[in-house]
Amino acid sequence: MTETHERFEALKSACLSCDRCVLAATRTQVVFGVGDPKSEALFIGEGPGQEEDLKGEPFVGRAGRLLDVMLASIGLKRENIYIANIVKCRPPGNRDPLNLEQDACIPWLREQTKLIKPKIIVCLGRVAAMKIIRPDYKITSEHGQWTEKGGYWMTALFHPAFLLRDPRHKPETFDDLKRLEAKMREVCEYTLPD
Ligand code: URA
Repeated sequence: MTETHERFEALKSACLSCDRCVLAATRTQVVFGVGDPKSEALFIGEGPGQEEDLKGEPFVGRAGRLLDVMLASIGLKRENIYIANIVKCRPPGNRDPLNLEQDACIPWLREQTKLIKPKIIVCLGRVAAMKIIRPDYKITSEHGQWTEKGGYWMTALFHPAFLLRDPRHKPETFDDLKRLEAKMREVCEYTLPD
């Protein structure tokens, strides 16, 4: 086991018993993240929903199945990337996570990011983009654009749950995914399928 791997596992086990905010009282379990911790691409959603809370894994519900289709469109599987959320516990009734909850939780994601050392960060939806890229990020006009911040290439895509509610935005998102594929070919060492 490498030192980074050990630190990642230690971080995970500390996080699994986190009680830094009120969401700890209503969660079934912490949803730490899934995928390859050595990945060059980190995808960040908003927070676990009901199915994720029950299973302990991000994006396993309907939105997650669409995320798999989105990934597959550029030859990626969830095992090739790492997926986490802004908050690691389910906000009751699937409401947006409060700023207080996001601020309490973000140090976990920050530590995860430092250990993963991705080249690319993909925010899934408005909440993640506003927390990670810029507080005034406008997903409607800025999705798919790239910015370099803190040594990472960053972009945001429409959240798959939003795309399920409003499929008219799917074509734009598949264009954004093509741009993601091009960026990965440019800055990552992955061998993407031809
Ligand atoms: N939506 C998210 O933002 N994250 C999940 O893990 C599931 C649904």
